[in-house]
Amino acid sequence: MSQEPRKPSPLGDMSPEEFRRHAHETVDWIADYFAGISTYEVLSRARPGEIRNSLPLGAPSEGEPMRAILDDLDRVILPGITHWNHPGFFAYFANTGSGPGVLGEMICAALNVNGMLWKTSPAATELEEVVLDWLRQMLGLPKEFFGVVQDTASVSTMCALAAAREAVPGLNVREGGLGGSLASAPKGVPPALRIYTSVEAHSSVEKAAITLGLGHAGVRKIPVDEQFRMRPDALARAIDEDLGTGWKPFCVVATVGTTSTTSIDPVPEIAGICVRHGLWLHVDAAYGGAAALLPEMNHLLAGCDRADSLVINPHKWLFVPMDFSALYCKKPEVLRRAFSLVPEYLQTAEDAAVHNLMDYGVSLGRRFRALKFWMVLRYFGREGLVSRIREHIRLARMFTVWVEEHPDFELMAPVTMALVCFRARPRGSEEKISDSKIGGGAAASDLDALNERLINAVNGTGEAYLSQTRIRDRVAIRLSIGNIRTTESHVHRVWELLLTKLDDLGSPRSGTSTGS
Ligand SMILES: Cc1ncc(COP(=O)(O)O)c(C=O)c1O
Repeated sequence: MSQEPRKPSPLGDMSPEEFRRHAHETVDWIADYFAGISTYEVLSRARPGEIRNSLPLGAPSEGEPMRAILDDLDRVILPGITHWNHPGFFAYFANTGSGPGVLGEMICAALNVNGMLWKTSPAATELEEVVLDWLRQMLGLPKEFFGVVQDTASVSTMCALAAAREAVPGLNVREGGLGGSLASAPKGVPPALRIYTSVEAHSSVEKAAITLGLGHAGVRKIPVDEQFRMRPDALARAIDEDLGTGWKPFCVVATVGTTSTTSIDPVPEIAGICVRHGLWLHVDAAYGGAAALLPEMNHLLAGCDRADSLVINPHKWLFVPMDFSALYCKKPEVLRRAFSLVPEYLQTAEDAAVHNLMDYGVSLGRRFRALKFWMVLRYFGREGLVSRIREHIRLARMFTVWVEEHPDFELMAPVTMALVCFRARPRGSEEKISDSKIGGGAAASDLDALNERLINAVNGTGEAYLSQTRIRDRVAIRLSIGNIRTTESHVHRVWELLLTKLDDLGSPRSGTSTGS
């Protein structure tokens, strides 16, 4: 234990000896945290403002002993933490700060390099190129895909759409801003660019369109089929209609693993339409890409070899701590043209021979994110990643069978990966999924309310965290299995909690509980 309390000296950093002592304490804290993760309540019970009100109004005027800071971490900060590392975390898309990933983050912080230019840390640039090429090979994507790390899929998609716009012939937004216009457009009239994506696509597509000045109107949402996949016939019709009314279609965003239900758009057909119309195809495989590491699931990326760009998030289902998103682009020179701006003070003698990764996105400063992914890839190996993802898929299928076989529950969407969308529909409830329509009747809202109460009741136990979505305008419970520490026993437990809480809410329950 430390010989503190001792105040920091007035100049210079923490001494190496003091750092070593506190670092050991901190690593012990992290190891204890991981070892005892199940003892925490998954979802923080903090009320709005509670954590802020427990903290001083201003920064301390003098330095404080590390011991006092670490004590406050336990006392003040932890109660406001929702534990994404908890094996009972089934909300959103569950993720993991794995051991090797956390160690990579620690070393990244210690090295503190800024990989904006190759020269400012050659290893940061070259390791990034290497690990993204390893991932590309593991996904079976063609060699031409050039990878660059962004913080999130939202930013990756925004960069891809900027590149797609840059690729539009005759449009010079880079020079003329939004007033830049197509030769065919009336002078001074901004071209009405259009992106196509399904109604199930992630909100990041629209957010990127807003950011890029294309607006909500610049995104046309294409309807989906009964399995929530973009309908290629509707896409082709929408493009034809828009061409006839003066829009300039330029990009389609297909999704492999949508957020609500993990549906998979028919990329091969969509790619054909893009080729026919000369449109940029961006694939959002932020979540679903990881499943394609499994040889038996690699078909999920069918057609993606024809995409112009693709995003996958190792910080979702590849056990890399937040944040790490991989953007692949087949035309890196176009991506570069969209973003590169090199003032005198950033020029280097090596510019012609290397990639300066600041040229492929918005930010100049770049963290050495590749390090944590390299450590994850080397520590688990391809087979280690595959077996963990395969196990999550097995657990999701096991849970799906319990739902399907239970008379008081029903599946709300096909299970394609490790997300199960379902709801309680106790025997005797009138409304069936197939009856659902927008603005449904009283029976529907009763079921919605019941399912919302059920989610809250399970989450209230502190043992598990489920989230919800709307499917065909009905509340659905989402169970996402993606945490490295989640085992079969945790999935059994959340099922048991669902059954017990449904009982407590006063609904009939069958004795045929398969899973517990
Ligand atoms: C399909 C899909 N795309 C994009 C995103 C956005 O990811 P990020 O948080 O990395 O921006 C999500 C988030 O869950 C997602 O599910």
